[in-house]
Amino acid sequence: MGRRKIIAGNWKMNMLPNEAMDFITRLSESVRETKSEIVLCVPYTDLFYSLLTAQNTNIKIGAQNMHWEETGAYTGEVSGKMLKAINVEYVIIGHSERREYFAETDETVNKKVKSAFNYNLKPIVCVGETLEQKELGKTSEIITNQTKLALEGLSDEQVKNTIIAYEPIWAIGTGKTATSEDANNSIKEIRKEIEKIYGEEVANKVAILYGGSVKASNAKELFETSDIDGALVGGASLNVEEFKNIIMSAEK
Ligand code: 13P
Repeated sequence: MGRRKIIAGNWKMNMLPNEAMDFITRLSESVRETKSEIVLCVPYTDLFYSLLTAQNTNIKIGAQNMHWEETGAYTGEVSGKMLKAINVEYVIIGHSERREYFAETDETVNKKVKSAFNYNLKPIVCVGETLEQKELGKTSEIITNQTKLALEGLSDEQVKNTIIAYEPIWAIGTGKTATSEDANNSIKEIRKEIEKIYGEEVANKVAILYGGSVKASNAKELFETSDIDGALVGGASLNVEEFKNIIMSAEK
């Protein structure tokens, strides 16, 4: 469908600034010619250092969360306006770890996505089912509903620029990956839901990534499917060689 692949790393609560700078310097040398979009979503404390190191490379930098308000009495929070001010380009919204441990809801996800667009940040919106929901046969219902609620009230243009990451919760950090067929089917369901609301032209533009124990050894198979447009990589994005090999798996 002509969509460009996006390979995004989610460092979660890992990496100090010196480690981030070293990683980006080493990675940038080996990915100069790649066709995919490469994004590293780093902790807030690494953002500034990472942005400086990534200048004049094809590595883009993202945050892992943001608040939907612009400013105010929200101790410990960081707004989209603040991220934009230092030239952050991407932001993960609604990661399952934030939904589980930090009371993120479909409603706050939607507010954050809207706010991200207000500041020209590209949101990477995470959706995914728990093991229990999967076993109850509810995967499709859960992920299409999360997608619908996350995108509510957005313009066609904004939806086209939203990146969705399908991350089955049972596959995150467990070493268990969804089969490429299952992951592709779930991603097709998400695209179908977007098509139902926004039409085919919009749905075909949306990049939908897979996340959950993606490694160099399983990336190629995932990327060869019809609808998986890349990966959101956790653990394996902390190792330069491994992450580079995932990126290379997406090069045709
Ligand atoms: P792992 O790749 O460590 O399973 O994490 C996936 C993830 O949560 C990326 O956002």
